[in-house]
Amino acid sequence: RTDTPCDLMLFGALGDLAMRKLFPALYQLDRAGLLADNSRILALARRPLTIDPFRQQLAENLRTLVPEAEQNPEVIDRFIGRVDYLQLDFAEESRFESLNEWRNHDNQLIVYMATPPGLYGVIARNLKAGNCCTDRTRVVVEKPIGHDLESSRVVNDELGEVYQETQLFRMDHYLGKETVQNLIALRFANNLFASQWDQNHISHVEITVAESVGIEGRWGYFDRAGQLRDMVQSHLLQLLCLIAMDPPSDLSPDSIRDEKVKVLKALKTVNPDSVGQNVVRGQYTAGTSEGKPVPGYLEEEGANRSSETETFVAIKAELDNWRWAGVPFYIRTGKRLPEKLSQIIIHFKPAPHYIFDPDQKHLANNKLIIRLQPDEGMALKILTKEQGLDKGMRLRQGPLELTFSETFSEDRTPDAYERLLWEVMRGNQYLFLRRDEVEYAWRWVDRIIRNWHDSGEPPKRYAAGTWGPVASIAMITRDGRSWYEDV
Ligand code: BG6
Repeated sequence: RTDTPCDLMLFGALGDLAMRKLFPALYQLDRAGLLADNSRILALARRPLTIDPFRQQLAENLRTLVPEAEQNPEVIDRFIGRVDYLQLDFAEESRFESLNEWRNHDNQLIVYMATPPGLYGVIARNLKAGNCCTDRTRVVVEKPIGHDLESSRVVNDELGEVYQETQLFRMDHYLGKETVQNLIALRFANNLFASQWDQNHISHVEITVAESVGIEGRWGYFDRAGQLRDMVQSHLLQLLCLIAMDPPSDLSPDSIRDEKVKVLKALKTVNPDSVGQNVVRGQYTAGTSEGKPVPGYLEEEGANRSSETETFVAIKAELDNWRWAGVPFYIRTGKRLPEKLSQIIIHFKPAPHYIFDPDQKHLANNKLIIRLQPDEGMALKILTKEQGLDKGMRLRQGPLELTFSETFSEDRTPDAYERLLWEVMRGNQYLFLRRDEVEYAWRWVDRIIRNWHDSGEPPKRYAAGTWGPVASIAMITRDGRSWYEDV
């Protein structure tokens, strides 16, 4: 718990992110006793609403989204009592004075911009003009920061005119997921892996972030972004960084972020000749999801029927550095895939000399499977012999398994936003992106997008409910490998 009470100004308070994620997370922090007394929240949005209907809407929202066993009527009342609502046009500078009047100057001011990034600069300038800006203010902004390198620089410059880097908390909610943080614990607390974590021992790495959902009413936003910008630019590259980075000298924000930046700088530029081979983009057509028929991307509500935006992307990424030379990172992510599943597979190289049944040689390498969601856990696939007198020395693979919900069943897994909001309150930036991280990631992604444009190739179609275009399977089989399937 931080003893300093916070005043949180939440811009975009009626939006999907605030309602679905931020308010429930703040409620959970309150329930856990982590909000200091006198902490307050000012919900800001354009809609003309008074406080009572807003509070009612919030209470209903919490009752729908918070699991029943975690709803405590007393805490709900206390939490709702902390929240005020103010109707505000974010571009109207003169109204920002009233925000200053709301503030309690003894409280830590946190500004959360749950708005499109185009508004970050305006809000920051208006807060400054309205005297709502001190050296201690902390500002949270959501991804995407811009649409490409150039626009992200504009957004970062605009924020930088008002705030110092140490005041900026750039969110990537994947970094708030327990299992994602566990990548740091796994790698740097277990010496067992430290000596194995390089091109001498690892043949390749797979990162899959699959979603079964489609566009969920966000067609306009999504179509301008596409899966590469929406998912790879931040979430998947962050996962890649955590797997590939060198050990930081401590857990301080800059030690960790310095190492991540080195990885991003080492990402090999995807060369235009290899587009189509090492980068596959797809778009889903009608199919099924969880047993039900679903429309294709171009038939979704609000769709522009000739869009060539990708809803799936697979990339063979490589790092130009000593540790990872020659080790491909196969990454893929898509909407309307068969299930929601995020996992990382580390494929170790086989033993240098093989003495078992030649037919089983393909089995003989260890794999570390890190399941980020659902069912968070890890499994190390090791080889043992099949049991039985008649089996000789036939090998089989079995898991040394850790499933968090079973082994540590008494622990509640907090939502990513709980962890991240909590770290903002504590002023700890280690789970937030630094400006250079965002910009190096854009530089790599922009190049891929430019190559796509130059190639003029439309995305490859895949039916909803399948694992993406066949070309993404060909991409990995061409290297004599396959996407991992737990069988
Ligand atoms: C968001 C993307 O950042 O992450 C969405 O904008 C995506 O398109 C979501 O669905 C996935 O997050 P999670 O936590 O459900 O894996």
